[in-house]
Amino acid sequence: MEDNIILVGFMGTGKTVVGKELAQALDFKYIDTDLMIEAEAKMTIPEIFKNLGEDAFRKMETEALKRVSHLKKYVVATGGGIVMKNENIDLMKKTGMVICLTATPEIIYNRTRENSDRPLLQTPDPMKKIISLLKFRESQYQIAADFTIDTSNLAVKTIVETIISLWAKEEP
Ligand code: S3P
Repeated sequence: MEDNIILVGFMGTGKTVVGKELAQALDFKYIDTDLMIEAEAKMTIPEIFKNLGEDAFRKMETEALKRVSHLKKYVVATGGGIVMKNENIDLMKKTGMVICLTATPEIIYNRTRENSDRPLLQTPDPMKKIISLLKFRESQYQIAADFTIDTSNLAVKTIVETIISLWAKEEP
């Protein structure tokens, strides 16, 4: 059986809310690579993007994943762009079962619109940005994922139950 469950997926697909409930249901610990990075850098994600740039943030993501790879019995929520480096995909696959959460662009827009803590969506036309980023990243999410779940019309409880049954099937 795999040691951990890693959640990947675009911003607003439910990684945080699902991750927390999933960890509770499995009696696993919950960790979020964005929060690890913020704690390490002593800056928020928008501050890191503004002061150090996106490339520096992407390096920090890989470092966070390396630390995560030593853990056991964790649900790991990741940032939406983590799949763009193949090195990160390799690290995640070694660390646990990778689940990709997806949602339609409209739902992603509605779930993220009130929030100003995602630098990539601070543009005059966030919907356009969501659509183009999704298209750009789509194949990487597919490569990363052991399983994919469309969260658009599912309750959190249902998503958690689905992941638990996938996890149980992975047991030898
Ligand atoms: C990003 C997603 C964010 C965060 C950063 C960049 C991305 O995480 O890592 O703003 O590139 O998609 P969430 O997916 O948790 O919003």
